[in-house]
Amino acid sequence: MIVTAPRIRVERHLGPAQLTRALHDDVTAGLTASPKTLPPKWFYDERGSQLFEEITRLPEYYPTRTERAMLLDVAPAVALRTGADTLVEIGSGTSEKTRLLLAALSAEGTLRRFVPFDVDEATLLAAGQAVAAEHPGIEVTAVVGDFEHHVPLLPRTGRRLLVFLGSTIGNLEPPARAAFLRAVAGSLATGDAFLLGTDLVKDVGRLQAAYDDAAGVTAAFNRNVLEVINRSLDADFEAQAFDHVAYWDAQREWIEMRLRSTRAQTVELRELGLEVAFAAGEDLRTEVSAKFRAERLAVELADAGLRLLQWWTDPAGDFGLSLSTPA
Ligand code: SAH
Ligand code: AVI
Repeated sequence: MIVTAPRIRVERHLGPAQLTRALHDDVTAGLTASPKTLPPKWFYDERGSQLFEEITRLPEYYPTRTERAMLLDVAPAVALRTGADTLVEIGSGTSEKTRLLLAALSAEGTLRRFVPFDVDEATLLAAGQAVAAEHPGIEVTAVVGDFEHHVPLLPRTGRRLLVFLGSTIGNLEPPARAAFLRAVAGSLATGDAFLLGTDLVKDVGRLQAAYDDAAGVTAAFNRNVLEVINRSLDADFEAQAFDHVAYWDAQREWIEMRLRSTRAQTVELRELGLEVAFAAGEDLRTEVSAKFRAERLAVELADAGLRLLQWWTDPAGDFGLSLSTPA
């Protein structure tokens, strides 16, 4: 049997050259700063996306299964309320939970277009092809880009539902988060809507376990950023010489993932002509994952120019979904 892959359109705002330049800039800035940091978007090469998929199936990592159960419940209401013909997914990854929204819009009879948008082209294209095969009647336009820069460039055709699931918004620090929400609000036309998934503040023990699982998958995900840098920048990080740390910052209400140098060491990044010294016990911060409270999120949405239409949580109050429109 011959199986042909369905055709999808691809729009690239980040080609290999721009990705390399952005990685150069981020790594140079982050590793020469004090304390040292790296932006989380560099976790997601093909292996990083696979490791994230594994994380979503871990017993300790409740967000994905909680949000999926909620979407199973609320997707028909979202489809009815928005009447969207175009589903735009930001930070789409495998678009696995998104299938529930696509099915609901399809059942409502409005679905015409799907626009997944991600920095990891391989995962994005595979997901786009899979959705195109499942919904042969719709257009699929996969957009390769950075959601901190390219939200205003997303296709504007149709009555759009923008979705940002998984609480990926929590991986942006507050100023970047405010800028992102303003960009979303600024790109919505009358009749468009924005569905946002947010992980909520909860028992610290559960939060820490979710980011430091017993099987060590999150540790491998965290260290993978060093492999990305080694491969892309001809660097010699020894990933096992860094311990995985998940730290709960009670004041900022976010988990920080860090890589802690197990000894004094110097890393060479030949592509950048840079040598970076780590003291024993020195931390490199690789991610923040903010946890939200309904009241604070409502203020952030309003400040960005969004009007909250509906708010849902699961029965345990672990995760929130909000539906907003332009104010
Ligand atoms: N939405 C999915 C995947 C979450 S993982 C879910 O809910 O399970 C985070 C996704 O965001 C990854 O696919 C990653 O490649 C993407 N991502 C991270 N930073 C990004 C950025 N700055 N711009 C675009 N995509 C980004
Ligand atoms: C994608 N993002 C919402 C995940 C999170 O929970 O912050 C990434 C992740 N980091 C560690 N585990 C999962």
